Amino acid sequence: MYTNIMPILRCPHCGAEFELVEGQTENEEVIEGKLVCKKGHSFSVHDGILDFNSREQEGLNSWNEYYKDESYDELDRELDARDTQTQRKNKSDFLAGIVEEAKKLDSGYLLDVASGRGLLLRELLKNMDASVRILAADLSFPVLKYDRIKFKKDFPNIRANYIACDATRLPIKNNSLDMVCTFAGFANMMDLMEDGIKDAARVLKPGAPLINSTVYMDENAPGAQRVIRFLKDNDMACAEKMFIRRELLAMHRKYFMTVREKIVYEGIAENVEVDLIPCAGEWFANAVIVAQ
Ligand SMILES: C[S@@+](CC[C@H](N)C(=O)[O-])C[C@H]1O[C@@H](n2cnc3c(N)ncnc32)[C@H](O)[C@@H]1O
Ligand SMILES: [Zn+2]
Repeated sequence: MYTNIMPILRCPHCGAEFELVEGQTENEEVIEGKLVCKKGHSFSVHDGILDFNSREQEGLNSWNEYYKDESYDELDRELDARDTQTQRKNKSDFLAGIVEEAKKLDSGYLLDVASGRGLLLRELLKNMDASVRILAADLSFPVLKYDRIKFKKDFPNIRANYIACDATRLPIKNNSLDMVCTFAGFANMMDLMEDGIKDAARVLKPGAPLINSTVYMDENAPGAQRVIRFLKDNDMACAEKMFIRRELLAMHRKYFMTVREKIVYEGIAENVEVDLIPCAGEWFANAVIVAQ
């Protein structure tokens, strides 16, 4: 972690500010240390990552399990190789659509929510102005640990901060960020998606944008109906709002004054091996939603 994040951090338990107890530092980056709030709640900085003791999702994005069988690099290669050429092009256009909005920020704090393997994070590190302070948050400590190593190698001069935490309860003060963005991060929160959007609104400065990205589907199509049943059977009722356009727009309007959308692509989906959505053979759209 870099200490430039200290002014905006708050204890997720009591809201108090933290004091940093530095252990080991390397080139001004705290690699090992401790954050302690006034009420004595304590969290560690470990392997350069701020660790708020969040637990990975079970069965879905359980990175620690995946890394038991494959190294980070191997898994990256394997997941990327599954995409067809069209899917690869769609993904890169989708990321470019998010970055186009993100680049409107020329300074301040930018948080990438649910940054996962860092597909969006890589584009942000590559494209954002040097005076933007980039933060990445994910439930998974292991995924962030490997992201940090990978991106330190590729972007040695960028001082990014990695926070292992639940992004529905960010350890960040109200009204402190200049932009929040995500590549499919809120959708991956499933039934907690609205909590994530609400907390993003809380940490953003008034008028600062949330750039969400999502896949719309036709809720009446057979594949989409199957997904809705699957979510219900797995106690995630309402999670289908993640792909229903009117529900999503309404959810953003609840927490933000203005909401606009940009459709980056629409067409018929090819088979996707690992993801539930979009459903093969059915209409879908890749949309960027900007709420502020
Ligand atoms: C598959 S990734 C999405 C792609 C990623 N944004 C990228 O650019 O590569 C989804 C991530 O959401 C994270 N996630 C799910 N729920 C979360 C939550 N409540 N808080 C933080 N991260 C969460 C998972 O740990 C997972 O890493
Ligand atoms: Zn506290």
